[in-house]
Amino acid sequence: MNLENEVALITGGGKGIGKATALLLAKKKAKVVITDINEEDGDKTLQEIKGKGGEAIFIKHDVSSEEDWIRAVNKSIDRYKFINILFNNAGIFTLKPLFEISLDEWNKLMNINVTGTFLGMKHVVPHMIKNKKGSIINASSTAAINGAPNHSLYGASKGAIRSLTKHAATEFAPNVRVNSIYPGFVKTQMIDYASELSNTKLDNQASSVPLNKLGTPTDVANLVLYLASDMSSYITGSEFVVDGGLSAGPPVWEIKE
Ligand SMILES: NC(=O)c1ccc[n+]([C@@H]2O[C@H](COP(=O)([O-])OP(=O)(O)OC[C@H]3O[C@@H](n4cnc5c(N)ncnc54)[C@H](O)[C@@H]3O)[C@@H](O)[C@H]2O)c1
Repeated sequence: MNLENEVALITGGGKGIGKATALLLAKKKAKVVITDINEEDGDKTLQEIKGKGGEAIFIKHDVSSEEDWIRAVNKSIDRYKFINILFNNAGIFTLKPLFEISLDEWNKLMNINVTGTFLGMKHVVPHMIKNKKGSIINASSTAAINGAPNHSLYGASKGAIRSLTKHAATEFAPNVRVNSIYPGFVKTQMIDYASELSNTKLDNQASSVPLNKLGTPTDVANLVLYLASDMSSYITGSEFVVDGGLSAGPPVWEIKE
């Protein structure tokens, strides 16, 4: 899979899944616009790509700010002329009983996870339509598919991304494709934070996964690469779970030995 002549904007590219995707797409010869609210981490990803001979720029960017989106998109177009891959990846997590969530906490998470994804599509899609080519990948989560205690805010944000993706796919067809991805437990800073909040050891989480291990950021990046590339040119409005079988469910009845 070669992404020569493609330009990819990846939000939250300073760490975890976003970083792994930025490295992989750059390896496949895409020009990569890394954006992140954390300048130090974003710059580290940039240096790693450059160190390996890839082409990239870093733009400091808060995805919940419309001004930041306008600035980031303008800078990307100035530098690379177009954007035809958008990975709306930046997101934050929380774990809290519903009745303990303050309105400020609700609004903050929704602004980053949902509004950030909306603004990304709003400001990038017109350029994709103009060039008659685009692939958007939105990061949802298995929390949008399954219910779990204390996940209402995070799960609702990822459910909104799931729905936003389907509507956008019908609205932007035929030249722009929009798909969503559903990671399960992926070993990043986010899951370390989840483990800390829930006092659950990651080894316990791994053993609940049918494939008996946590996913890596590269496991998810490989899926994003497929959806970004022309290999998936007949796919839009679709949902891709990458969770080691977690949402397929654990065995309910064991057979007696
Ligand atoms: N790790 C998992 O197990 C998992 C599972 C399901 C879904 N996801 C989703 O995948 C995406 C990436 O997750 P991750 O595990 O790599 O997370 P991470 O916490 O490791 O990295 C997230 C990155 O986003 C950046 N970021 C946070 N707020 C931002 C903002 N307002 N503007 C711009 N950048 C911002 C952070 O600085 C960081 O670099 C998220 O949307 C997450 O919800 C992750």
